[in-house]
Amino acid sequence: MSLDFLDDVAALELQAAGEDVDAIVATLPIQNAQSILEVGCGSGAFTRALARVASSPVGDQSRRARVVGMDRSPASVAQAVPLARAEGLDNVEFVAADILDPASLVSLAGQFDIVICRYFLMYMTPGGLGEACLANMRTCARRDGLVACVEVDANFGEDRYPPPSERLDAVLRRIVPLYRERGLVDWRCGITLHHHLTTAGLREVRVRVVDGRCIAGGSPRALVQHGSMHVEELLAPCLAELGLADQTAEVAAEWRAYLAAPEGFVYTPVFLGVGRSV
Ligand SMILES: C[S@@+](CC[C@H](N)C(=O)[O-])C[C@H]1O[C@@H](n2cnc3c(N)ncnc32)[C@H](O)[C@@H]1O
Repeated sequence: MSLDFLDDVAALELQAAGEDVDAIVATLPIQNAQSILEVGCGSGAFTRALARVASSPVGDQSRRARVVGMDRSPASVAQAVPLARAEGLDNVEFVAADILDPASLVSLAGQFDIVICRYFLMYMTPGGLGEACLANMRTCARRDGLVACVEVDANFGEDRYPPPSERLDAVLRRIVPLYRERGLVDWRCGITLHHHLTTAGLREVRVRVVDGRCIAGGSPRALVQHGSMHVEELLAPCLAELGLADQTAEVAAEWRAYLAAPEGFVYTPVFLGVGRSV
């Protein structure tokens, strides 16, 4: 099953537009960082937020940290560059590299005060690649540098109010276990961050909730639009398993209406895990 739809640059930009990205960045220990790497940067929305903060004054000190966004997709990197330029950011650069391929990381090794990933480890851990990913993130950090992961607890339909229909509820409840069983995505990676970071040998590991991404009464529109994209592809394996493949259009329409409903409240806790590389 191809997960390419989850890397759609337009969808990533919408998601970031609907979140309080600056508030998430403000929780990162980057105040004294001179060099910051984001692994799996996609469209670079989070990298740009890092670059904005990294070029803003701290107290009466001006500063100018180097920010690098990297992604294995040259197409994403090519789209990230003009988006950063359009914001007038000149302390950010983008490179195409694969965090699972040490040969492509040579120019990045040992360079960064902090190596960050956001909504990325969730694609690595179900396939058993979490440890390799974190080990290579450590390789990019300088000695004593930090590794930080921002991950969600996207629990989809569990215990929603108002409750969705029985059919939609059954489909949504299958997403998390099915994507895990197939080694594709751990949508609830945020709550397991402490385990992953300590298993990877990081020290002084701390995990906390840094945001509660919310859609309330169909707002913000950007998050509703983001959640309404690629619904058919996302739900397809669950619908097939439940024998509901012929009802795809109806179920997808119901989920879109649910996200936009005036009485709706859908929330997704966002976790930050940080550890020190020694
Ligand atoms: C869900 S997006 C995250 C986007 C971004 N971090 C954000 O917060 O908007 C995941 C990104 O990871 C990239 N990716 C997947 N596997 C990778 C790998 N092995 N090395 C580097 N990037 C990878 C994909 O191309 C995609 O752009």
